[in-house]
Amino acid sequence: MPNIISASQFNKSEIEKILSRAKAVEESVQNGNVNQLLKNKIIACVFFEPSTRTRLSFETAALKLGAQVISAENAMENSSAHKGETIEDTTKILCSYADVVVIRHPAVGTLEKAAKVATKPLINAGDGNNQHPTQGLLDLYTIKKEHGRLDNLNIGFGGDLLNSRTLKSLVPLLRLYEGNKFYFISPKELQLPREFVKDLKDQGVLLEELRSLEEKLPELDVLYMTRVQKERFTNPIDYEKVKDLFVLKKEHLRNMKKNAIIMHPLPKINEIELEVDSDPRAAYFRQAQNGLYIRMVLLLYVLGL
Ligand code: NCD
Repeated sequence: MPNIISASQFNKSEIEKILSRAKAVEESVQNGNVNQLLKNKIIACVFFEPSTRTRLSFETAALKLGAQVISAENAMENSSAHKGETIEDTTKILCSYADVVVIRHPAVGTLEKAAKVATKPLINAGDGNNQHPTQGLLDLYTIKKEHGRLDNLNIGFGGDLLNSRTLKSLVPLLRLYEGNKFYFISPKELQLPREFVKDLKDQGVLLEELRSLEEKLPELDVLYMTRVQKERFTNPIDYEKVKDLFVLKKEHLRNMKKNAIIMHPLPKINEIELEVDSDPRAAYFRQAQNGLYIRMVLLLYVLGL
């Protein structure tokens, strides 16, 4: 029974299959003739952390494929977790109702715990600052669509890299393709965990860590901006100190390649100036749309359909 827990669980041939199926699914959505492959299935979406795109795109994906959806949002308050129920007990119950269970949770490792007792496929929709594999795959699909390739790219990540689970899911996917070089751009306080960088270096991944957004801008094919994750800070003063340090401005665009793309998992707060949105290189709304197709494919994938 396949779960989707971490981006590094996928090998290259599985990824290629997912991406090519997403293209076919996208076409079927555009043409309005989606095969109702999930008819009579029930998909549970249980979110213990806020979400707009992830939950609603999963629900849309399920509905487009003919499934029905049961859903708990704000589950920290609105589910029995509020009364102290363990994730294991909650998972057992969800598996007795639904055919697939999609979970987002603030605690790192929640999905591993849940998987120990699950009797139906689980999908990680984000666990703390750890993993967000379905976002990693939709980001990969976006790069493939926008650039026509996944290799020999210069990819810059800017902002709160310490807490970005989307980065931690996208990098392990991109590193499977040759010639990619990563630029990790952040203030020291928000730099990537040392072990994450060490692991990449040990695997021979080409990377540089930088403190200024401007320095490598002209070389980037992809600039992936991230939000400073306020909810992960224990001290609000620390958040105030770093929240405005990295802002992509309209004037920066002049220094970027004509065919570069700007990505962001969204929601964006102030890390991208509003004027950037109308530049054709701003790919983040297209990126969010791609989430629908990838999540349709992933629901099919975990059910072996
Ligand atoms: C991201 C997340 O939840 O990790 N959002 C998303 O799923 N598109 C990024 C974020 O919240 O900043």
